[in-house]
Amino acid sequence: MCEAAVDFARKNGGRFVEELKALLRIPSVSTDPEHAADVRRAAEFVAAELRRIGMENVRVVETSTPETIFASSSGPAQLVAERTGHPLVYADFLHAAPAADGRPATTVLLYGHYDVQPPEPLEEWISPPFEPEERDGNLYARGAVDDKGQMWMHVKALESLLATDGGRLPVNARVIIEGEEEVGGEGVAAFVREHPEELRADVALVSDTEMFAPDLPTLCVGLRGMIYTEIEARGARTDLHSGIYGGAAPNPLVALAQIVAKLKDESGHISIPHFYDRVAAPSDGELATWAALPFDAEHYRKKEVGSTALTGEAGFSILERTWARPTLDVHGIAGGFTGAGAKTVIPARAVAKVSMRLVPDMTPAESFALYKSYVESICPAGITLDVRPIHSGDPIVVSTENPYVRVATSAMRAVFGRETVFVRGGGSIPIVGDFIRELGTPTLLMGFGLPDDNLHAPNEKFHLANFHRGIESIIRFLVGAGEAQGQ
Ligand code: BES
Ligand code: MN
Ligand code: MN
Repeated sequence: MCEAAVDFARKNGGRFVEELKALLRIPSVSTDPEHAADVRRAAEFVAAELRRIGMENVRVVETSTPETIFASSSGPAQLVAERTGHPLVYADFLHAAPAADGRPATTVLLYGHYDVQPPEPLEEWISPPFEPEERDGNLYARGAVDDKGQMWMHVKALESLLATDGGRLPVNARVIIEGEEEVGGEGVAAFVREHPEELRADVALVSDTEMFAPDLPTLCVGLRGMIYTEIEARGARTDLHSGIYGGAAPNPLVALAQIVAKLKDESGHISIPHFYDRVAAPSDGELATWAALPFDAEHYRKKEVGSTALTGEAGFSILERTWARPTLDVHGIAGGFTGAGAKTVIPARAVAKVSMRLVPDMTPAESFALYKSYVESICPAGITLDVRPIHSGDPIVVSTENPYVRVATSAMRAVFGRETVFVRGGGSIPIVGDFIRELGTPTLLMGFGLPDDNLHAPNEKFHLANFHRGIESIIRFLVGAGEAQGQ
C-alpha cells in the first residue's frame, strides 16, 4: 500500500506542483479586509480538492473571533465583541479497519493553514508574490512554504493513499485547515473547544515549521508563544504647528520612542519587572542536543540574518536566544508625517505595534498585565496611553514520549536516509497549545521548510525537493501510524 502510494506521488508530482501554483495565485492575506473574498476563495479551493480526492464530510466552516481583553493577570480573558472570522475547512475519513485483535484504528488529526502574510514590500520580489515561479528547483510565491505548500503536502499524501488503496486510508483522518493562523484568529480554537469529541485523535500532525538544515529531517518539539500588542499615545487635542507650540506641547511620537527605548536594554534584556519570573530553563539534555546541532553562528549572521552583528542576551547561545528565551520586538511605529519633503507638525496621536515571544512557563495573560503596567508607569507627562492586546498564543513544549515520534522518524529515515534531529522553533502556532490542552492530543511538528525560505519576507519560496520528500514522508508516516494502531 505504502509503495504504491509513494509511486503515485512520484508519478503525479508535476501535477501536484501545478495545483499548488493555482492555490498560490489566490492572494489569501488574512490580515487585510480587502482580501476577505480571496481568503474565502482559497478555502473553497481547498475544500473542493478534499472532496475530489475522496475525503468525506468536507465543510467550509464559518468562524468568529471573540475580541477579548485580559481582565486580570491570572483570570480568563473577557469577551468584549465578536468579529467575523475567515472560514476553516474541515474534512474527515473514518473508515480505517480496526486491528486484527480488535483495537480501534489510529486516528490522525492533520492541521495546516491556507492564509498568508501580506506580501509587502512588493518591489523586493524578483517575481510577483502571487504569480508563482520556479527558479533553481524552488517555487517562489507568498505562502509557498508558509503554509500553502506544506498544507498541500498533507492533501497530496491523502490523495496518493486514497487513489492507490481503493478509496481507503490506513488511518482515520480528520483534517482542519484554517484561514486565520497569520492573524492569531481564535476561530479555530473555538472550533476545537466546541468539538472535542469529534476531533479526538491519537496524534496530530502539523507541517508548518522548518528543517534545521538542508537534507536534515527535523521534528520541532517546542514553539514560543506570543502576545501581540498595540500602544496608542495621545498628546494634544489636535495636530499642532511645531513652531508655534514646539517646546510646550507633548509629542506622542517622541513619547512612544522613549517608551520603546525603555522596554529592552542594550544587552537584550527585557526591562519589564518580573517578566522573567516564570521562564523555565531547557533541560541539560536538551541543551546538549542543541550544542551538537550543525550550527554556524557566522553563517547564520551573514547568510540568514545579513547584518553586521547579532544581538541578544549574553550568556545564551543563538539557539537558546531564539528558542528558549523570551524576546520583545517593535513591528512598526506610525503617526505624524512621513511623506515627501517636510511638514512641521506635532502629531496628536501615534501608535506602536509591539510583540513579545514567550517561552514555557510564561502565560500571555500575565505577561501582558506586567507589560501594560510597566508601559503605563513610564508614560511621559502630557501623554495618555491605551495599551491593547491584539492576539496571543501559549508557548508549548511537546512530549516526545509517544509511539508516533518513532513512526515519524522512521518515515523520514526512509525518505532522507538520515536520523531526525529534535529542535525547537522560535515562531508560534497558537492552535498547537489547544490540541495539547483541550484535546490532550500529542502533536508532531514535522515541517519541511528551509532556513533560507524567506518566511514572512520578500521572495518566500519552497524548495521543491522538500515538497516531494514531505509528501513521501507523510505517506509513510500515515501508513506507519496505521500499523501503530491507536497505542
Ligand atoms: N509557520 C509559522 C510559525 C513557525 C515558523 C514556527 C517557523 C516555527 C518555525 C506561522 O505561520 C507563523 O508565522 N505564526 C505567527 C503566529 C502569530 C501571528 C500568532 C508568528 O509566529 O508570528
Ligand atoms: Mn505557518
Ligand atoms: Mn507564518
